[in-house]
Amino acid sequence: MSAHGTPIPMTSQRSGPLSGQADVPGDKSISHRALILGALCVGETVITGLLEGDDVLDTAKAMRAFGAEVTRDASGIWHVHGVGVGGFAEPNQVIDCGNSGTGVRLIMGAMATSPITATFTGDASLNKRPMARVTDPLALFGAQAVGRAGGRLPMTIVGAAEPVPVRYTVPVASAQVKSAVLLAGLNAPGQTVVIEREATRDHSERMLAGFGAEIVTEETAEGRVITLTGQPELVPQRITVPRDPSSAAFPVCAALIVPGSDVLVPNIGLNPTRAGLFTTLREMGADLTYENLREEGGEPVADLRARFSPDLKGIEVPPERAASMIDEYPVLSVVAVFAQGATVMRGVKELRVKESDRIAAMTAGLRAGGVTIEDGPDWWIVQGLGHGKVPGGQTCASHLDHRIAMSFLVMGMATQAPVSVDDGSPIATSFPVFEALMAGLGADIRRG
Ligand code: S3P
Repeated sequence: MSAHGTPIPMTSQRSGPLSGQADVPGDKSISHRALILGALCVGETVITGLLEGDDVLDTAKAMRAFGAEVTRDASGIWHVHGVGVGGFAEPNQVIDCGNSGTGVRLIMGAMATSPITATFTGDASLNKRPMARVTDPLALFGAQAVGRAGGRLPMTIVGAAEPVPVRYTVPVASAQVKSAVLLAGLNAPGQTVVIEREATRDHSERMLAGFGAEIVTEETAEGRVITLTGQPELVPQRITVPRDPSSAAFPVCAALIVPGSDVLVPNIGLNPTRAGLFTTLREMGADLTYENLREEGGEPVADLRARFSPDLKGIEVPPERAASMIDEYPVLSVVAVFAQGATVMRGVKELRVKESDRIAAMTAGLRAGGVTIEDGPDWWIVQGLGHGKVPGGQTCASHLDHRIAMSFLVMGMATQAPVSVDDGSPIATSFPVFEALMAGLGADIRRG
């Protein structure tokens, strides 16, 4: 089934050398946060480079439903006139977050400490995903949640009329949960403290500080202790969204496995909490370099250059790196197939509750394409076959998951026989220009 209508089957044929420049879209995580924080301050926030994928457009729609004015001008710049911390209006319709776990979880946090009620839903993928990880800490602020069995959407949140600040240790490595608690803490008096044992992406902390909130992060024996002072007067910002490393992963990995390739992927956000894939690829022997490393809008940014890498070798990915590359394991598993030896990925149980069970989805599709894989609850081992030796020829189910669809299409660029996906329509959630961008580099992806 498709994310938003008719399924779009796609097939990727073996490609000649990929070359040129890949201008990938804006960062999805930062785009959601820019819209939400823009909606939480009085005045105009101006956003350049916003990702115009379905996930983020659904968040823009939601911010309008909570009372913010959100517009896009003719030059593609977005303007948010916010309502202030605690200023959200009660929406008069159900909030549909489509495919986006980040959207729904962050918005639930942002509204949970206001005296309003909102009902959330999503597509078939999102409505299967666990929400208790967010509603449990929101209950500590005084919010109530009523959803389907197992804490699934559709779900109604009754915001706390008199919120209290909380101290919360996040039980899973999740930036969405951490961010939901911080956003809820914005409208609670006093200090809200979030503790994470494993560092996850810190865009919320950086952006909250940028909008003028008092937020302090300390590295302690307990982990990272983040203290936010509630009820700040946020100050509207001009934000330039860096390009998404999670989207850059696809042209980068394609270049590494297609013989003769040389691709430049400019302006990629290299926040250390996001860049684990690139470190891993370099350890595998990838010819991947960072050019023009600089800082933009509080985030490290570089131009990535990826070339065909004839001597890729399998490695053991350190489990403590998992959070910094959590969305990149599917495409890493594809690169691993073209390496010599086994690639071992452990500590990755969160992959089972993403847009799909990503270990199961990749295991099924790779096995059907002639690859040997073993998997367990939180681990996964891919046996590399080496360049030129991967049969392919399979049709893979994308399970409403953009990253599964794109990973298999990348695989098909270097297999002996083409690789198909049953539905590429979810790609529009994060990377709407994927087909055109890959075609521009020389890839051969066809619909059907
Ligand atoms: C995200 C956090 C991650 C990631 C998702 C985006 C975010 O999810 O998988 O694509 O923007 O905070 P978890 O927080 O569930 O790990």
